[in-house]
Amino acid sequence: MDDDRVSNSSANRHFAQLFVAPSAPVAMRRQLLQAGLGSAALSFLGLPALAASSGQPAIGFTPISVANDDVVRVPDGCTAQLLYAWGDPASAGPAFLADAGNSAAEQAEQAGMHHDGMHFFPFVENGRPSSTHGLLCINHEYTDDGLLHPDGMAAWSHAKTLKSQNAHGVSVIEVELGGNGMDSRWRLVRPSSYARRITARTPLRIVGPAAGAAAMRTREDRRGEVVFGTVANCAMGVTPWGTYLSCEENFNGYFNGLAQPTADQRRYGIHPGGAGFRWHEHDSRFDVASEPNEVNRFGWVVEIDPWRPAQAPVKRTALGRFKHECATVTLAGDGRVVVYLTDDEAFEYLYKFVSRDRFDAARPAHNAGLLDVGTLHVGRFDADGRGRWLALRHGDNGLGVNSGFADQAEILIRTRQAADLVGATKMDRPEWIAVHPHSGEVYCTLTNNRQRRSAAAANPRPENVFGHIIRWREDGADAAAGSFAWDVFVLCGDPQHADPGKRGNIRGDAFGSPDGLWFDRQGRLWILTDVSGNALNGQDYQRLGNNQMLVGDVVSGKIRRFLTGPKGCEITGISQAPDARSLFVNIQHPGEVAGGRSNPAAPLAGSGWPANQFPEATGGRPRSATLVIRRRDGGIVGS
Ligand code: FEO
Ligand code: CA
Ligand code: CA
Repeated sequence: MDDDRVSNSSANRHFAQLFVAPSAPVAMRRQLLQAGLGSAALSFLGLPALAASSGQPAIGFTPISVANDDVVRVPDGCTAQLLYAWGDPASAGPAFLADAGNSAAEQAEQAGMHHDGMHFFPFVENGRPSSTHGLLCINHEYTDDGLLHPDGMAAWSHAKTLKSQNAHGVSVIEVELGGNGMDSRWRLVRPSSYARRITARTPLRIVGPAAGAAAMRTREDRRGEVVFGTVANCAMGVTPWGTYLSCEENFNGYFNGLAQPTADQRRYGIHPGGAGFRWHEHDSRFDVASEPNEVNRFGWVVEIDPWRPAQAPVKRTALGRFKHECATVTLAGDGRVVVYLTDDEAFEYLYKFVSRDRFDAARPAHNAGLLDVGTLHVGRFDADGRGRWLALRHGDNGLGVNSGFADQAEILIRTRQAADLVGATKMDRPEWIAVHPHSGEVYCTLTNNRQRRSAAAANPRPENVFGHIIRWREDGADAAAGSFAWDVFVLCGDPQHADPGKRGNIRGDAFGSPDGLWFDRQGRLWILTDVSGNALNGQDYQRLGNNQMLVGDVVSGKIRRFLTGPKGCEITGISQAPDARSLFVNIQHPGEVAGGRSNPAAPLAGSGWPANQFPEATGGRPRSATLVIRRRDGGIVGS
């Protein structure tokens, strides 16, 4: 989901100075890098100066063309199976009705709308992780309330508010592969003792340094320790102890702000009317005038243990409060847990949390608290190709009572303001982060930023319409390091664009607005795009077709188009079975109209339904859905 407003009016640098065009050959660039020099000069080429030089897996499929039709296309030899669409029962619940006439209570037992980040957790069978039986955790980022109700948003009511809230959150579903050979298909296990829906009304615990703080207390929760619901669940992360992290992104849009918002509210994009959800009309928690602190209880990372269906999810406040896109977890060499975090809004920041204590596979209770104690840092990308992680810790880097932060809880609740103060680098909408499974290099999508007016080192294009992918290597190959070397992996674009500044430097198939980013176990980089409805097929994107998914080789830099989606959708959410022979992918908001809300009173308006019918193609409402992609020969997908 896009929120194109800008909330960051801080004076932090854009690094408009100093860009030296590179001319050094690759060998010299590598030497420069080893000496800690020169990678800014390397970055415009998008060459693999940082990448590991060997061990990259094969990418052998024949790439597909751009497409504008209303289907999913994959390379020859692959199949895409529909698994779980909006309204499908998560367990033994009621079936979807074609007119969307299901009640709010029924929606609470069915797939939510707008599938996003996702992960496959395998069962362990015969002592090995199963590739045919697992739990899928799936985020449901937001709703199109024009599609959600038979008559859309007309006569907005308490019942519609409840249904909208119940179509948010997360699904946990149990899935298995049945049948033989290519006749086999994935299906949901129904009923399942693991399946559950977590919604915008489910009780969640609040833990970590901000739990119980005065700003976290409300009329309903005088202790500041329990909150109803999670919203705007965008991308995700997975912990070494087998839990799922779900990230609250555009939470601000659910709140009706004050006519005159405070400076802190403005910094978090809390405005009158929000994004038009109208929940506040029937649930006073979402009306800032009625309950000023409820908004402080959203914008966090939520940990869910899929194996304990009775356990309440947990908001982990040590990871900071902002528009969380992703929470990508890796381990430092000494076993401390490192979480890379992004704040997806134009000119916002990249973050890194480092736990105080070490992961210990033998101590599950100890691991459950690892994300509550540690240090949150924010990234500064310098023009010389170096960068630093700046601690957001009370008493350090000018963060204290004198600068307006009473304690660590306040630094975490007002993370953006703390990051402003320490001099973080304003980025072009950071989305997903992926860590190379062998080299430890970190890659991050910067999806676009049309509002940038001047080049800056790590964000090198003004009016960044197509976005880019940045990467860095932590010093000493230690994920917990305080500094790093960065370069730009690729500048996205259309090589046929009339404006040379928008052509990019892709080696392979054209794309723009990269959003999802993920390494498979062997080290292929999967790139999922989210060109907004307003830009799809517009002047800049006229040759790039529908949103797509590509596969990149981070050593050669070559990128091939693997999948194109139906009209109006974005591609987001990706995971694989351990044998890499089943790939799970989400199609979000197929048939979306520009602006994001359908009008059932005028369904043919814009590009919306029923002209767009994915996945049924029978004239029904378009539905976000999880797909499973496999090869007819049973081979590794993407190889
Ligand atoms: Fe929910 Fe930034 O995408
Ligand atoms: Ca996204
Ligand atoms: Ca996006």
